[in-house]
Amino acid sequence: MTRIFQALAAALLLSVPATAQQVSDAVAPEAQTDAGAAFTGVSDRIDAALQAKASGQPVTADSWMIAAANPLAAQAGADVLEAGGSAADAMVAAQAVLGLVEPQSSGLGGGAFLVWYDAASGQVTTLDGRETAPLKATPTLFQDEQGAPLKFFDAVVGGLSVGTPGTPQLMQEAHRRWGRANWHDLFDDAIALADGGFAVSPRLAEMVARDADRLARFPATADYFLPAGQPIAAGQVLTNPDYADTLRQIAVHGADALYHGPIAEDIVRTVRTAPGNPGTLSMLDLSIYHVVERPAVCVPYRGNDVCGMGPPSSGALTVGQILGLLDRYDLAALGAQNPEAWRLIGDASRLAFADRGRYMADTDFVPVPVQGLVAPEYLDARAALLGGDDALPEVSPGTPDFDHALLWADDASIELPSTSHISIVDAYGNALSMTTTVENAFGSRLFVRGFLLNNELTDFSFRTHADGIPIANRVEPGKRPRSSMAPTIVMKDGTARLVIGSPGGSRIIGYVAKSIVAYLDWGMDVQQAVALPHLVNRFGTYDIEAGTEAEAMAPQLEALGYQVNTRDLNSGLHAISLGDGLTGGADPRREGIALGD
Ligand code: GLY
Repeated sequence: MTRIFQALAAALLLSVPATAQQVSDAVAPEAQTDAGAAFTGVSDRIDAALQAKASGQPVTADSWMIAAANPLAAQAGADVLEAGGSAADAMVAAQAVLGLVEPQSSGLGGGAFLVWYDAASGQVTTLDGRETAPLKATPTLFQDEQGAPLKFFDAVVGGLSVGTPGTPQLMQEAHRRWGRANWHDLFDDAIALADGGFAVSPRLAEMVARDADRLARFPATADYFLPAGQPIAAGQVLTNPDYADTLRQIAVHGADALYHGPIAEDIVRTVRTAPGNPGTLSMLDLSIYHVVERPAVCVPYRGNDVCGMGPPSSGALTVGQILGLLDRYDLAALGAQNPEAWRLIGDASRLAFADRGRYMADTDFVPVPVQGLVAPEYLDARAALLGGDDALPEVSPGTPDFDHALLWADDASIELPSTSHISIVDAYGNALSMTTTVENAFGSRLFVRGFLLNNELTDFSFRTHADGIPIANRVEPGKRPRSSMAPTIVMKDGTARLVIGSPGGSRIIGYVAKSIVAYLDWGMDVQQAVALPHLVNRFGTYDIEAGTEAEAMAPQLEALGYQVNTRDLNSGLHAISLGDGLTGGADPRREGIALGD
C-alpha cells in the first residue's frame, strides 16, 4: 500500500469494502462540502498547501513543484518528484490519479497537449496527443438528414463524438523521452486508490448530480456514477477496480494495452453500440494513432518568449496574438484597475478570436498561416486598430501574410468548459505544462474499463461551409479538432520563467493571457495572478466574473461600448514561477493545489 493511500484511509477512518465499483457505506458521517475540508488530513504537505491557498498565499519551494487540479493527483506527482523522478514521470503519476478522482475532466479516454522545457538543452518541445476523427468520419458527422447541425448535446452524448484517445500514448511518449523513473511504478498510487477507494470530492459530486440525466443513459456509466440510482456524494468512498485493472495492463504492456487487444475491443464496441447515436471508431483507428511533435509557437512579450502549442490547438497562436498586440501598449502604467487596460485586453482578444475562427485548424489537413498570424508587421498593423478610446465598433479577421491562397469561412463551434491543467518543475530544472481533457464534463458519457471516453470531435465545426465557403475546422477523417488548450511556458533569456495553463473551453485563452499580464505587467505573484477576477472577451460579450470586484468594471466597460455579461467563470489555472526558487499558485475556483519542496 502506498503512502498516499495509507494516509487517505487513516484520515477517513475507513474500512473499504472489496466489492467492485461501488460507493462504500462506510463513509464519513457528513458529506464534505468544501474542497479544503475534503482533503484536510491526507498529508501534512497537502494541509500546508490548502492553508496557503485559503489565505491567498503562493507555495514556495527550492527544488521541485507540481500544481494540479486535485490534491491526491498533486500528491502522486509530488511523491515521484521527491524520489528523484522527472517532470515527465510526475505527470504520468498525476494524470493516472486525475483520471480516477477527476474523471469528468481528463483521463485515459481523452487527449492532451504537452509543452516541455529541457533544462540541459534550453529547448522547448511541444507534443500533440490530441484525439483524431475516425477514418470513417465524414464532414457531415454532426448534421441531421436535412444537413442542419445537430443540437450540441445530441452530438456530445453517445458514440458519435468519440475520437481516438491520445492521452495514454502521450504519457508514454513523454516518459520515453524524458522519464527517469520505472514506468511500471508510476501507476502504483492510482492503482492503490482505485482498488482501495478514494473520497469523492465535492466538485465531482456536484457535477455528477448536475449531469445525472445524461450519465443515467448508459448502464455502465450509471452503475459507477449513480449506484442504486443515486449520485455519488462528496466524502463517500468510491472504488474503481476496472480502472485499476486497466492501469495494471498499461503499467505492464505500455500504452499499447489501450490501442490493441481486449481493452481496445471494448472501447470500439462501446462506441459502435452506443444506443441512439453510435460512432464509427474502429480497431484500425486505435492501432494507427500516434503522438505528433509539432513546432512550438513562441511570441515575444515584454522581453520574454511566450511558448505553447500550435495547431491543432489555437491556444498558443491566440494567446500569442493577444499578448503580441498588448506588447505595443503600456499595461503596467495603466494597472489592473483601469478600464483602459481592459479595453485593450478585450479588443486584442476580439481581434485574435476573429483570426482564430477563420484560420486555425489542424495543419495536417488545412494550410494555416502560423507565422503570418504572429509576424511583427502583422501584429503592428492589428495593434494599431486598438489606438482609439472606445470598444472597436466592428472586428473582423485580418489578412496575415501567407503563400497559400486562403478563403475560409468563419467557424463558430461551441466549446464548453471542462478539462484540467498540470504544471510541473522537477529537481533538474525541467518544466512541463500539460492541458488534458475529455472535452465536455464526463465527455461522451460512455464508460468502459473504468474510464470515460471523450467527446472531443464536437470541437470540430458542425457546419462544413458558410455561404458556400469551406470552414477550416470542419470534420475530416483522421483530422484533429481545433482546440483552445493553451499549455504555456514563458521563457526569459533561454530559461523557463513561468509554467501555466487552465481548463475552461475557449475561455482558456483569456484566462491564460490575463494571468500572464497580471504576472509580468502588474507584478502579481502567481497565486495573485491566477486568483485575479476574470474579464474575458471571446469576440462576443465581455464576460465578467460574478461575485468579484471585477463587477465594478461593468458600467465602465458598458460606457466604452461593450455588451457585458456577468457570470461564473470557472477557470482552473495552475502556475509555477521560476527564479529565486519556485513559487506555485492554484486556482481558488477549483480544488487544485501546488506542492513543492
Ligand atoms: N476541448 C477543449 C479544448 O480542446 O479546447
